[in-house]
Amino acid sequence: MSKNVNIDWNNLGFSYIKTDFRYISTWKNGQWDEGKLVEDNMISISEASTALHYGQQCFEGLKAYRTKEGKIQLFRPDQNSKRMNNSCKRVLMPEISEEKFIDACIKVVKANEHYVPPYGTGATLYLRPFVIGVGNNIGVKPAPEYIFCVFCLPVGPYFKGGMCPVNFTIADYDRAAPYGTGAAKVGGNYAGSMLPHKLATKTGFADCIYLDPATHTKIEEVGAANFFGITKDDKFVTPKSPSILPSITKYSLLHIAKEYLNMETEERDVLIDNLDEFKEAGACGTAAVITPIGGIEYKGKLHVFHSETEVAPITKKLYNTLYGIQLGDVEAPEGWIVEVK
Ligand code: PLP
Ligand code: COI
Repeated sequence: MSKNVNIDWNNLGFSYIKTDFRYISTWKNGQWDEGKLVEDNMISISEASTALHYGQQCFEGLKAYRTKEGKIQLFRPDQNSKRMNNSCKRVLMPEISEEKFIDACIKVVKANEHYVPPYGTGATLYLRPFVIGVGNNIGVKPAPEYIFCVFCLPVGPYFKGGMCPVNFTIADYDRAAPYGTGAAKVGGNYAGSMLPHKLATKTGFADCIYLDPATHTKIEEVGAANFFGITKDDKFVTPKSPSILPSITKYSLLHIAKEYLNMETEERDVLIDNLDEFKEAGACGTAAVITPIGGIEYKGKLHVFHSETEVAPITKKLYNTLYGIQLGDVEAPEGWIVEVK
C-alpha cells in the first residue's frame, strides 16, 4: 500500500466513496474498443441514451479481498462475467468477453490498490461493472453505442450490523414478472424495489422479502440477496425459480454446504406458509455476504427462526467457510480465486 488513504476501515458501511481510477470501454460500429483507465468519475452521454429512458443497461457486483499475507484476490469473477453476458443478451446489448471483463476488474483493483481494505477489518473492495446503452436514439430499440465501465469502492456490511440477525417483512409488491427480467441484473428490477424497501425500513425491518409473482406463496428474494434456510434435519435449502437472480454466493454456498460441511442440499420451492420447516435462515449475496435472518413478518405475525439476536450455528459455519475461502484462509475449490498480481 504505497499511497495513504484516510479511511476508517473498521467502520465502513455500504456508501459511495470516489476512488482514483475506473475502467471505460466504448462499443461503436460493432466492436468494443481496447478500453482504458480514467480518473474522471463523470460520464457524459447523449440526452437520448436508451439507458436513461428505457432502462437498457445492466450491472454486476463482485469483491476483491486482501489476504493475511497481503495479497489481493477476486472471488469467481468468471461467474460475474457469465451473468453479465446473460443480462446483456436479455436487453439486447453487446456481450463482453470473459477475458476483457476480468482484465478490466484486475486493472481497476491494481490502479486503486491502496483502497483494498487491510485483512482483518471486515471491509472489502466492491467492484461495480456496468453496461449502458448510449448515443442518439428515441424509439424503443437498442442503442447505437454502449459503454462498459468498472469502478470500485471500499465497503463494509450491506445490512447494518453485518453478521448479526435482522428481521424482514414480506413485500406487498413484486420485483419481477413470471417471464420478465428477474433473472437478469438490470436496473429496472431495482427501481421497482425502492418503494417496497422504503416501506419495509420505515416500519423497522432491514428490507423486504419478495414472493413469487405468479402465486405469492413462495419465497423468491430477500431484497437484493437470495434466501436460504436450514431445515430441522440439517438440509441447506434455497428457492428455485426462473425469476430469481442466480446468486453466485448462493451457488457457492450450495457447494460449500455439500462438499465442506457434508450437508444435503436442495434447490426447490420454499413456501411462505411453511417457515416452521427451518431452524435457521439467511440472506446471501456479494454485498450481503451472509446476513442471518432473525425473523420474517408475514400477515402481521413475526416468525422467529433461531434467535433475533444470536447467530445460529450452521449459518455461522457457512459464513466462516465462505469468508475464509474469499480471504484465502480456507482452501478454495479449483478456479474460484483469481489473484490480482
Ligand atoms: N439477488 C439480487 C436481487 C441481487 O441484487 C443480488 C446481488 O447481486 C443477489 C441476489 C446476490 O447475488 P450474488 O451472490 O451473485 O451477489
Ligand atoms: C450485490 O450484492 O453485488 C448487489 O448487487 C446488491 C446491491 C447493492 C444492489
